[in-house]
Amino acid sequence: MLDVEGLSVAAGSLELVREVSFSIAPGERVGLIGESGSGKSLTALSLMGLLPEGVSATGRARLDGHDLVGVPERELKSLRGRVASMVFQEPMTALNPTMRVGAQVTEVMTLHGRPRAAARARAVELLERVRLPHPAQIARSYPHQLSGGQRQRVMLAIALANEPGLLICDEPTTALDVTVQQQMLELIVELAPALLFITHDLAVVASVCERVLVMYGGRVVESGPMREVFTRPRHRYTEGLLAASRLTPRGTRLPTIKGTVPSAGEFPDGCVFRNRCVHASGECVTEPALTGDGHAHACWHPGD
Ligand SMILES: Nc1ncnc2c1ncn2[C@@H]1O[C@H](COP(=O)(O)OP(=O)(O)O)[C@@H](O)[C@H]1O
Ligand SMILES: [Mg+2]
Repeated sequence: MLDVEGLSVAAGSLELVREVSFSIAPGERVGLIGESGSGKSLTALSLMGLLPEGVSATGRARLDGHDLVGVPERELKSLRGRVASMVFQEPMTALNPTMRVGAQVTEVMTLHGRPRAAARARAVELLERVRLPHPAQIARSYPHQLSGGQRQRVMLAIALANEPGLLICDEPTTALDVTVQQQMLELIVELAPALLFITHDLAVVASVCERVLVMYGGRVVESGPMREVFTRPRHRYTEGLLAASRLTPRGTRLPTIKGTVPSAGEFPDGCVFRNRCVHASGECVTEPALTGDGHAHACWHPGD
């Protein structure tokens, strides 16, 4: 069980993510959506203890009773076994081209203290679990000898090797063809202990996630069951995102979002979306709180 409460991320005095709270139950799949620059990756990186130099997180995040935020550097190593991440955009750069894939899967386990022989045997089992044919033979291959889809499966095996409580996938948009991507998504759904799935592709979220968090300007502006949020968005930002996505039938008249995402530190006071919102009024200079049980939104002029 992941429990995030009041998570903020800042680079010095520049606030990049503000007071984000959410939880993920075992087995649950949660989508984190929003345009580029909304704070999605920083939220994920803070859960993995992988924030860039000069950027720090405050607040609380616990996974199965272990703190993920504010832990000393020496604890970060074991933390990375508990939260696994996978970015399957560029499987070629994430894998070491000079090392056999079996050795790479083995290495992530020996680094976490598993004896070499046991790790080696488990590596082949993991390659089988991600449905690679002839896993023992694949283990002896180099990344360039595999197809793009096979390399992604190897990366999933690596991500799952240390039995994490949570799998995080950041921007899984991929150059792979649609059928390969679909098979990969199905495998992730089947094998992830719990999933935080980050993407700007709402159609993918619709096929993978049970619940969604919509982020903008470093805030969660709407959250709730995926079907409900996608069919009855309340925040005007969510409404705009959906209007611009391929989920909305062509010709449906919904306001699309004007302008572009501001740079960090240049969002307006009050509602962070108000300078792009066609419904903005005087009230919007006051920041709306995220309210509502189940399906929550932070908007003074919600849609129905
Ligand atoms: N190391 C950093 N220092 C300062 N600002 C950063 C740093 N990393 C990211 N940012 C800024 O934080 C904001 C959110 O970034 P990010 O979490 O990567 O967004 P997303 O993943 O939603 O596209 C962006 O405006 C980005 O430019
Ligand atoms: Mg990102």
